[in-house]
Amino acid sequence: MRRFLRSKGALLAIIQLIFFLACDSMAQNGTFRSEFIENYIGNRFQQQAELVKKNRDIIPEEVRSLMADAMSGDKTFDQKIYLLGIANAMASMHKHWNGDEKPLLEVETLQKIEIEKEKKRVAEEQKWTKYEKGIGNFLMKEHLHQMEAKGLTPVVFPHWVHRAWFKCKVCHQDIFVMKRGANDIDHNKEGKQCWACHNNKTAFNDEGNCERCHLAGRPEADRLYDLSKADHAKIKEVAVRLGAEWNPDKLLEGKIPVDRYGYINWIELKNSGVFNPIGFLEGVDKDSTNEVKDDLILFESTSPSVNNVVFSHKIHSSWIKCSTCHPAIFKDELGGNDIKMTDMASGKFCGHCHGKVSFTFADCHRCHSQPKGEPASGALSRHAKP
Ligand code: HEC
Ligand code: HEC
Ligand code: HEC
Ligand code: HEC
Ligand code: HEC
Ligand code: HEC
Repeated sequence: MRRFLRSKGALLAIIQLIFFLACDSMAQNGTFRSEFIENYIGNRFQQQAELVKKNRDIIPEEVRSLMADAMSGDKTFDQKIYLLGIANAMASMHKHWNGDEKPLLEVETLQKIEIEKEKKRVAEEQKWTKYEKGIGNFLMKEHLHQMEAKGLTPVVFPHWVHRAWFKCKVCHQDIFVMKRGANDIDHNKEGKQCWACHNNKTAFNDEGNCERCHLAGRPEADRLYDLSKADHAKIKEVAVRLGAEWNPDKLLEGKIPVDRYGYINWIELKNSGVFNPIGFLEGVDKDSTNEVKDDLILFESTSPSVNNVVFSHKIHSSWIKCSTCHPAIFKDELGGNDIKMTDMASGKFCGHCHGKVSFTFADCHRCHSQPKGEPASGALSRHAKP
């Protein structure tokens, strides 16, 4: 099935390309190019040989024109490579039957350059994505050019390490709005944003420490995304200084537990006493209210195929401020929100955090854990509005 889908996808892509090529070549070129392409696609070898011999004088120009088309506009790598492939076939046959190898050398040089560029682009992309896998870290490179101008690489913000020391409510929403790219972070924000803490008191400041934040691509960044390299002694030292807790001796086999999607299992860490973050930071946090709401809400699933969902206000509000969820993400009214999985996938409702910073919605059973028909003791029903 998978192979079939893949080949169907490939077929579609080829049909699209042929269509695109046919339109393109008919619009701009004489019949030679379209005849060549027809023969090429139809594997009509004999006709192709005749055609190439007959048109030997115009072929070098045709090859160059295909190369120019490949490089013009906003073509994707696949489109470019396909056009260059046709140019290469044309030039190869021209060399074979007409004895002129110059156009082929030109095409091959361009193909090599384009493939190298693509390899670099993919490598560059992968170089950065590894920092963000599962555990909720962010790579920050909004101002990439300015950083590069100072010889610096992007910032790795180890969200998970900060989570180990601080509850969400310390940062959200007084210091940072809980949305990527929404905070316009840069060094003009003295005493605010990162520098609310990175002030040489709570944490190191900029002075001489550029590379402690501009970490991407440096070996020291490894321990921030590869959990097996985490520096527990360092995390503990900072925790103790802040009045938080990090007890690596309570970790099972010394490992930070992750689910099969690579997300850290914070609930297990909490329950086994590994960590205990602080919820308020003097001088940084504007309000010290640490209000926790202790009830459970039963979401009776509208679908017969899944279990019901139990939402714990206690788990959520002990970490997260009420005002983060209410009213922006949820109306604080029982049954007041029409929650659908498709909305979550686009980052709404539970998907505001789950799948980004908290465990992903691919992990169905962690939410859909309450079998239908079994009483969820003590949980509020969303149907019985008060
Ligand atoms: C030390 C500060 C800090 C702490 C503590 C913290 N965050 Fe964040 N959070 C950030 C920053 C910084 C961003 C990115 C803001 C930006 O890009 O403008 C962010 C962004 C987010 C986002 C947006 C993700 C997206 O893709 O849009 C979510 C969700 C989030 N945090 C959830 C949490 C949760 C849940 C907790 C607690 C379990 C938490 N954060 C703890 C600093 C923090
Ligand atoms: C609520 C306070 C707070 C905020 C806000 C905060 N940090 Fe931190 N951060 C800390 C503390 C505390 C440490 C540990 C400092 C130490 O090692 O002495 C730390 C450490 C770090 C480290 C080093 C981690 C390691 O183990 O090497 C990086 C990188 C970092 N922060 C980046 C950032 C960035 C980027 C921002 C803003 C997007 C930010 N922090 C915002 C408190 C904060
Ligand atoms: C506490 C973490 C931290 C430290 C330390 C730090 N930076 Fe940054 N820096 C950031 C963050 C976060 C951004 C914004 C990231 C983005 O563009 O998405 C940034 C952006 C920048 C930018 C581009 C935007 C701007 O504000 O100009 C430059 C240049 C820069 N840093 C230079 C430096 C230099 C030089 C040092 C050392 C003197 C330094 N940084 C130390 C976190 C840090
Ligand atoms: C972060 C918690 C969470 C996770 C994880 C989650 N769901 Fe849901 N899901 C909900 C909530 C809340 C509702 C709304 C109440 C209801 O109808 O059950 C819901 C509704 C549904 C519904 C009802 C109709 C609809 O589409 O909204 C289906 C079906 C469903 N989920 C399937 C899944 C499947 C399959 C997975 C795993 C791939 C999954 N859910 C993972 C919380 C979650
Ligand atoms: C992670 C998000 C989140 C946080 C944080 C949160 N809530 Fe809620 N709250 C919800 C959801 C989801 C519902 C159910 C809405 C529905 O049934 O459609 C809800 C419902 C409510 C309701 C009506 C039902 C009930 O349980 O009484 C009230 C009142 C409420 N919240 C108050 C609060 C207060 C006060 C806090 C802080 C102590 C808080 N919430 C923190 C998500 C949150
Ligand atoms: C503002 C962020 C946020 C929103 C919105 C949110 N959650 Fe969570 N949720 C968390 C955090 C943080 C945890 C702690 C575990 C983690 O980070 O993976 C958590 C934990 C949970 C757990 C506990 C899992 C366990 O193993 O015990 C369940 C279940 C859950 N959420 C369901 C939901 C449902 C259902 C919704 C929507 C109605 C929702 N959450 C909305 C942040 C959020």
